[in-house]
Amino acid sequence: MKACEVRETTGLDGLHLNANRPEPAPGPGQIVVRMRAAALNYRDHGVIKGAYGYTKFPVIPLSDGAGEVVAIGPGVTQFKAGDRVCGTFFVNWISGRVPADASKNSLGGMVDGVLAEYALLNETGAIKIPDHLSFQEAATLPCAALTAWHAVVEAGRIKAGETIVVLGTGGVSCFALAFAKMHGAVVIMTSSSDDKLARVKTLGAGMTINYKNTPDWDQEVLKLTGGAGVDHIIEVGGPNTLAKSMLAIRPGGSIYVIGALGGSGAIDPRAINRKSIRLQGIHVGSREMFAAMNRAIAHSRLKPVIDRVFDFADAKAAYLHQQSGGHLGKIVIAIS
Ligand SMILES: NC(=O)c1ccc[n+]([C@@H]2O[C@H](COP(=O)([O-])OP(=O)(O)OC[C@H]3O[C@@H](n4cnc5c(N)ncnc54)[C@H](OP(=O)(O)O)[C@@H]3O)[C@@H](O)[C@H]2O)c1
Repeated sequence: MKACEVRETTGLDGLHLNANRPEPAPGPGQIVVRMRAAALNYRDHGVIKGAYGYTKFPVIPLSDGAGEVVAIGPGVTQFKAGDRVCGTFFVNWISGRVPADASKNSLGGMVDGVLAEYALLNETGAIKIPDHLSFQEAATLPCAALTAWHAVVEAGRIKAGETIVVLGTGGVSCFALAFAKMHGAVVIMTSSSDDKLARVKTLGAGMTINYKNTPDWDQEVLKLTGGAGVDHIIEVGGPNTLAKSMLAIRPGGSIYVIGALGGSGAIDPRAINRKSIRLQGIHVGSREMFAAMNRAIAHSRLKPVIDRVFDFADAKAAYLHQQSGGHLGKIVIAIS
């Protein structure tokens, strides 16, 4: 089969196409999936740069993909040939609390991922996809969508009329916007681009702030909320933005600590205790959360926001497009 492989952690130079990788065969409890589409996450750039301390080479990259089951191993009960599925980001987080070794069991990291014609998955590490989604749309769900769902719905229990700041307009952020709107919340979205802000308004963002032109975006959030601050913040900036998020949150509000897009900044613990802020770490999510998310997506017929679709042969161009930061929502790679 054709498969992309990360052979060394030298960035895009270390990413190679292997046209003759053996097709996987399912062992007990495993399924083989003919992949039809994959999607990129910010994390996948860390993988090719060795940011996560890998030991396994070559590894097939990307956690997020969708396809159809073509073979099942002995003992498989949840899937049959022809089922449309995604893999789960963590191979070993089924339900309950995140396992201590989840990071070492993530697809496209220590475990072969989905940027290949066929993927070998445990049946407990796969999930059926909503009927109304194409493979390309479903490919966006395992990491970005589930992370946003975990924050907004599972941890956040967001309610109609509550306010939420969503930082940026990337994959996680566009799903956070969609799930917050699904639950009737008021969304304030930030971006470095006025053009992107105009687009997220059409997707349901009630208020927008350009964080480049308005570096004190936290003060603008306070203005927009009559001085109160917001109930929730989707924090993808990390060291760059966390201190400002703690100024923009209302007393007793929740900040979902998701990303670390760069920069530096010190955190004053007194700001956390004086406002009784909840800082909630989010690490993608469990298969049980994925099932709940899929039910909601199917019921509401939600469609993911796809920025652009690249061919399998142009996988490197897809990585470069994400690196450029020009995208809004998800970048998909078609595997025909
Ligand atoms: N904890 C987890 O489980 C988990 C899961 C998924 C992702 N993440 C993390 O979440 C972050 C986003 O991931 P992604 O896949 O959604 O990335 P992405 O699609 O590449 O989106 C990145 C976007 O972040 C925005 N951004 C960059 N710097 C910013 C800043 N200083 N303030 C506000 N927004 C900023 C930009 O939006 P504009 O272009 O609109 O300015 C950019 O397009 C990454 O740090 C990633 O590692 C964590």
